[in-house]
Parts: sequence; C-alpha cells; structure tokens
Amino acid sequence: MPSGKVSIDGRLVDGDEARVSVLDRGFLYGDSVFEVFRTYGGVPFAETEHLERLVRSAERLMIPMPVSIETLSSEVRATLDAAGGGDWYVRVVITRGTGPLTYDPSTASEPLRVIIAAPLSLPPAEYYERGVAVALMRASRPTDDARAAGAKASNYLANLLAVHEAKEKGAQEALVLGKDGQILEGASSNIFVVEEGRVRTPEPQPGILVGITRATVLRVAAAAAIEVEEGEVRPEDLFSADEAFITSSIREVMPVVSADGRTIGTGRPGPVTRRLREGYLQAVAEATGASI
Ligand SMILES: Cc1ncc(COP(=O)(O)O)c(C=O)c1O
Repeated sequence: MPSGKVSIDGRLVDGDEARVSVLDRGFLYGDSVFEVFRTYGGVPFAETEHLERLVRSAERLMIPMPVSIETLSSEVRATLDAAGGGDWYVRVVITRGTGPLTYDPSTASEPLRVIIAAPLSLPPAEYYERGVAVALMRASRPTDDARAAGAKASNYLANLLAVHEAKEKGAQEALVLGKDGQILEGASSNIFVVEEGRVRTPEPQPGILVGITRATVLRVAAAAAIEVEEGEVRPEDLFSADEAFITSSIREVMPVVSADGRTIGTGRPGPVTRRLREGYLQAVAEATGASI
C-alpha cells in the first residue's frame, strides 16, 4: 500500500517518514486549522474554495497564513506529483507552530504548513446503494462559540466521540443538535432533508461548518430546478422526511435512510437524493475533467 507523500513547509517526504515537533501547538492543543479534499483523475476538486476557507479559518484563530494561496496550491500540486498517479485524499494543515509550553498563543510566531497526500479510502458502495443510518446527539464543540464559529479547527474530539457513540448505536454518522434542539450538521458532514420534492438544509449559523459539498449541491439543485431552502431542521422534520442525505468532500452525496432507529421515507435512497448525487458527480467531472 503506498504511504503517500507529505510536504512540510515545502519539503517533500514519504508519508511514513513525515514528522513534526512534539512542541507543535497543533499536536499539544489542537491549535491549528485544516482542510480535506480529494482528487478525481488526479485533479483536486474545489481546491480554491477549500484553500480560501482555510485562510478564513486561520483568521478566526488568529494564525497568520505563512504563505499565499497560490504557493499552497503549487505545493499541493508538487505533493500530488511526488505521490504518483491515481487519486489521493488531500489534507492541508496550518498549525500555530512551536513555542514554550504555555497556552498563550502569542508565544508561537512561526506557523507550520503540512500537506498530506494519503491513500484515498472511500465508503463502501453499499452505503450509496442502501443508504446509511444516523444517530442524533448533543455535542459541544470548540467551533460552536462565536470566536471560532465557522472555522475548520483541528480539535475534533467532540466530533470523534460523537461518531464513536453513533457507531455503538449501529449508525454510520452522528448528527449534532444545537442548544435549541435543532439539527446542526453531521460530525463531518452537512445534512439535507427532502419533503414533497423540496430540499432543506440548516442555514449557516454558529456550530455549522458550511460545507463546500453543500454549496455545490445547492448550485446543482438550483440548476435542476429543485426547490431548496436554508432553514431550521428539527429532529421531527428528519423523522418525517421523504428522503435525507449527508454531504462531505469525501462522502459526496450519501443517502440517509434511518435516524435513531426510525425509518426515513421508504427506507431506501430516494429519487431527489439520487438526482442530486448524479448532478454532483457531473459537476465534479466538469470541473476536473475526470470521467466519473
Ligand atoms: C463538521 C463538518 N461539517 C461539514 C463538513 C462537510 O464539509 P465539506 O463539504 O466542505 O467537506 C465537514 C467535513 O469534514 C465537517 O467536518
């Protein structure tokens, strides 16, 4: 199995050999931001959108960007070229860097950039053919508060514990509830419901990472004259929906057929979800030139 390639501050190393300091604040405190995207036919999809969101995330956490988006993009290209042919999972991380062992972020002044091209591990085909189950739960994440809201900060502990709990309940994704009981998003995805042909997804608000896949799906739906609205989605809306699906850069558009053990719609992936998934893949093919 290829281990992929990693670029650390522009220096390329084998995936197995890549190392950062134990004093790096990303390691010690999750004091870093990141992006995840993938390639299709070797070409990254929506790379600019991801790198622009990375810059916004860094701003939120007051981490100065060490290089321009153009430099990062050319380093992504170099990492992919070094990794070789085929498709890759790409993670770009900006950490605040190293400093004395103190919480004060102003003590670290040299942010570190890491680009990882790792083997792409995709969800099983049956998740798309039969759909997945989700579990609803409360979880409080660092990005729920005003300062870090909207940032893709690396502290995913609450999200990964939510996924653990979901898996224990036989579900494949956790859906996080806000303080008013509304559904915000998945642990690493955005959620959509379909009711009488109309699509609804929670509006951007603190606690939601406004996904790049979500934005693409909204564009695809508009082009296909499928009605979409951004608004509150409550657990009962999900339970009574005709269809539901989650979106993320790696999972693309994935049907959801049950929530907390309750069947959604017919219990099978629905026609609107299927159309949006096809439209999404077509948008990816057009943007990357890949045959999907
Ligand atoms: C918390 C969270 N919400 C939503 C998403 C979906 O974002 P995107 O479509 O940009 O991959 C992710 C992706 O990892 C995520 O971690």
